[in-house]
Amino acid sequence: MLIFFMVITNNLLDKYNVAVPRYTSYPTVPFWDETINRQQWKHAFQQQFISKNSVDGVSLYLHLPFCESLCTYCGCNKKITTNHSVEGQYIETILKEWAIYRSLMTAAPIIRELHLGGGTPTFFSPENLTRLLEGIFSSAVIHPRHEFSFEGHPNNTTREHLQALYDLGFRRVSYGVQDNDPEVQRIINRIQPVENVQLATDIAREIGYQSVNFDLIYGLPLQNLQRMKKTILQAIAMKPDRIAFYSYAHVPWNSRGQRLFDEKDLPSTEEKMQLYQLGKKLFTENGYINIGMDHFALPTDNLYKAHKEGNLHRNFMGYTTQHTSMIIGLGVSSISDAGIAFAQNEKTLHNYTAAINTNELAVFRGYFLTDEDVAFRNYILDISCRGATIFRAADIETLQQFCFPTLIKMEADGLLYFTTDGVVVTTTGLNFIRNICSAFDLNLLREGVHANNPVFSKAI
Ligand SMILES: C[S@@+](CC[C@H](N)C(=O)[O-])C[C@H]1O[C@@H](n2cnc3c(N)ncnc32)[C@H](O)[C@@H]1O
Ligand code: SF4
Repeated sequence: MLIFFMVITNNLLDKYNVAVPRYTSYPTVPFWDETINRQQWKHAFQQQFISKNSVDGVSLYLHLPFCESLCTYCGCNKKITTNHSVEGQYIETILKEWAIYRSLMTAAPIIRELHLGGGTPTFFSPENLTRLLEGIFSSAVIHPRHEFSFEGHPNNTTREHLQALYDLGFRRVSYGVQDNDPEVQRIINRIQPVENVQLATDIAREIGYQSVNFDLIYGLPLQNLQRMKKTILQAIAMKPDRIAFYSYAHVPWNSRGQRLFDEKDLPSTEEKMQLYQLGKKLFTENGYINIGMDHFALPTDNLYKAHKEGNLHRNFMGYTTQHTSMIIGLGVSSISDAGIAFAQNEKTLHNYTAAINTNELAVFRGYFLTDEDVAFRNYILDISCRGATIFRAADIETLQQFCFPTLIKMEADGLLYFTTDGVVVTTTGLNFIRNICSAFDLNLLREGVHANNPVFSKAI
C-alpha cells in the first residue's frame, strides 16, 4: 500500500490535482447562458414532455434549502434559520411552481424518480413534507417502479419523518455523516454524535427502507489517517448500503463559511489522496465496490447491480439507476433537464419567491444543447458510469483534434488505454475519473483552459 501511495504521489498527484468539474451535467453550469429566454425553455420542456413522459416517466428534484446551523465546509445552496415558520411559505411557493409546470403538461406526469435535497429536507416537519408531497402527487401518476429518496440530517431525522416519507413511497435515505471525530466536528461546526447516525439508521431499517447511504468527506480540516480510519470503521460497522466518499471541495470564493478555515489545518494534496486511498481500501476490504466517482455500494444494492449490468446513469442528483430523460427541478437554485436543454432557478430565496409569485417560472439561466453537446455528453457519461467509451465515426475529427492529445498523455500516465474503437479506464485511472471526463469537455478544451479552470474545485 505504501508503494501505491508513492506511485500516485510522485507521478500523478501534482499533475492531475487541477480544478475540474464533477460532471453532473455537460455542458457544465459555467458555460450556460444567463440570458435564457423563459419562453424558449417552456417550449423545449413542452416538446420533450409530450414525447418522453409516456415512455420513461419523469424525475422530480425538490430543493429544500433550510438548515438550523451552518456547517462551515458546506458548498450547498442553503439558508440558515431556526425560524420554522418559513416552512409554510416555501411549500406554497413550490406548489405554485409545480402548478406552472403542470399547466405546460398535456397529461398527468408519471413520476418515476423523486429526490428531496437541500439544505436539509428534515428541517421541515413530517406534516409539512406530507402536505408538500401530497400536493404534488394529487395531479400526478406514480410509476409502479418508482424510486423515491431523501437527504436526512442524522441530528434531526425522526422516526416520524422516516415513517411519513415511507408511507409516501420513499425507500432510500441518505444521511450526511461527514466525519465522526469530535475535533473535526468542532472545527466544521457540526456536532453530531455517532449515536445519532446509528439511531437514524436503525429506525430507517426497522421501518423498511431498502437502502441507506452515508455521505463521508475526506480533506476536511484536522482530518488525518488515524481519525479518518476511525470514522470509516464506525461507518462500515453500521453497514450502509451505499457510501458517497466525497473529496472536500474547497471553494471559498463561493462558500463564505469555508473562509473561516485556517488553510494550514487543511490536509495537503498528498495527505488528502492518502485519506482517499485509506477509505477505498477499507471499503473494498469490507465488501463495498467502487462503482465510480466517489461512490461505493454493497453488492446487494441496486446501484451496484446497475453498475454491473452497465445500466448506471448520472445526473444532477448523482448516480442513479433510473434513466428518465427529463428532470423537473423545483425550489430555489434547482436545475431542470429536458434532455435537449437545461434550466436553473434563481439562487436566492428572495428572487426565486418573487418570480414564482408573478406566476412565472423562476429560471434565470440555462442551455440548449447542440448535437455535438449531446454526443460529448454521452462520452462523459460513459466514462463516469461505465469506465469506458466507444468513439462514434461522426466525431472522429473533433476527437482527434481536441481530445486525443490529452487522452494520449493520460494513456502514457497509465490512466486509460486505447482499444480499436475507444478507451477504457484503468484501475489507476479510477482515481482520476473527473480528469478523464474533462478530456472530452470540448468547452474547456476549446478555451484552452482544460487544466485549472479556477471556477471548479480541485480534482483531489
Ligand atoms: C445537502 S447535504 C446533506 C443533507 C443534510 N443537509 C446534511 O448535511 O446532513 C449534501 C451533502 O453534500 C456534501 N457536501 C457539502 N459541502 C461539501 C463540500 N464543500 N465538499 C464536499 N462535499 C460537500 C456533504 O457530504 C453533504 O452530506
Ligand atoms: S452540510 Fe447539510 S446541514 Fe450542513 S449547512 Fe450544508 S446543507 Fe446544511
